[in-house]
Amino acid sequence: MQSSEIRKKFLEFFEARGHTVIAASSLVPEGDNTTLFTGSGMQPLLKYLLGEPHPVGRRLVNSQKSFRTEDIEEVGDNRHDTFFEMLGNWSLGEYFKEEQLSWIFEFLTSVVGLDPQRMYVTVFAGDKENNIPRDDESVAIWQRLFKEKGMDAKAVEFVTEERGAELGMQGGRIFYYQAKNWWSRAGQPAKMPAREPGGPDSEMFYEFSNIEHDLKFGRYCHPNCDCGRFVEIGNSVFMEYKKNEDGTFSKLSQRNVDFGGGLERIVAASNDNPNIFTIDVFAPLVARIRAGGGTSNPRSEQIVADHVRASVFLIGDGVAPSNKDRGYILRRLIRRAVTHGHYLIGLPMGFLSTLIDTVIMSYEDAYPDLKRDREMIREVFEKEQVAFERTYTNGIKEFEKVLAKGEMISGV
Ligand code: GLY
Repeated sequence: MQSSEIRKKFLEFFEARGHTVIAASSLVPEGDNTTLFTGSGMQPLLKYLLGEPHPVGRRLVNSQKSFRTEDIEEVGDNRHDTFFEMLGNWSLGEYFKEEQLSWIFEFLTSVVGLDPQRMYVTVFAGDKENNIPRDDESVAIWQRLFKEKGMDAKAVEFVTEERGAELGMQGGRIFYYQAKNWWSRAGQPAKMPAREPGGPDSEMFYEFSNIEHDLKFGRYCHPNCDCGRFVEIGNSVFMEYKKNEDGTFSKLSQRNVDFGGGLERIVAASNDNPNIFTIDVFAPLVARIRAGGGTSNPRSEQIVADHVRASVFLIGDGVAPSNKDRGYILRRLIRRAVTHGHYLIGLPMGFLSTLIDTVIMSYEDAYPDLKRDREMIREVFEKEQVAFERTYTNGIKEFEKVLAKGEMISGV
């Protein structure tokens, strides 16, 4: 399936269930200086999750442009990217686990057509220290949903990923983890500042059995193993807690649902290919990078594709390269793209900015502003690209002069 098709079907599916489509926010958070970028669909909705009434109602849905740098070192493998689209639906104090898990399972299996036999889910194992019970309610719902597909769904208690790697799948379909199944913007309960909302989540994974487990990740594979056999495609956060000033947790005034699904990963799963760089919005970009370079290096090709796409969206939302904050991150992305593109795979100097049109072409219907701002985006990108290519080339020339003079420093 194509990205535009799945995006549209997701919005329609939840609209048909009483949700209102809300516009995606900018990647530059508005009125929120706690974070540099919008990294999830819930971020712009924070005050509504905390109880303020939303002007369009209590059931919302959208596809949110998101940017995260946490996984930047992993970008280049088959499933990590810095920029991505997050499909999101929210219940602001209305429906809860029963509706959410049933609907999202229906969407993934009946609308997207994913095979339920390849789906595995995880749930919260509980946190005694903070007095938060384990999520047996979600387990019962999942067991019923899998049963309706004619499947037994055994629940296995891992708690930690280490335990998962020691025990392996054990014929399970539902797995309890603790840290992995707690979601807040700040991460684990201990890291959450006072007044931050969070809660247990239930995550969905799709299995690609042609990917062999890699022993460097532990003896056995399990849904949260990093070998790539199981790809997380979405998570439903049951956001019903907040952290108090004294570090304890209490219930929010309302029970919320915050679903986030990685559009690129869902599209890849629908095509039965674990590599997100093969989907429609990446394929033309990767093909041009591959054809333009001299050396085949899939990791570098994918890094270039990710970084150029992310740069286009960041510049489109008003970020300019600089030495601090957002501008510094963008500068780093463009420089990494030049380093991988020019120096590792042999793309000609100046080539990267020609990829901007390829990115915009894939997104011009969903994000018409990119088309409108094409020249501005190109100018900002090119300026940084040219400056860095010049610096890098001068550096290499200086280095060659040193080598020619026989002044090689040991260890270089
Ligand atoms: N739905 C929470 C997140 O993954 O951002």
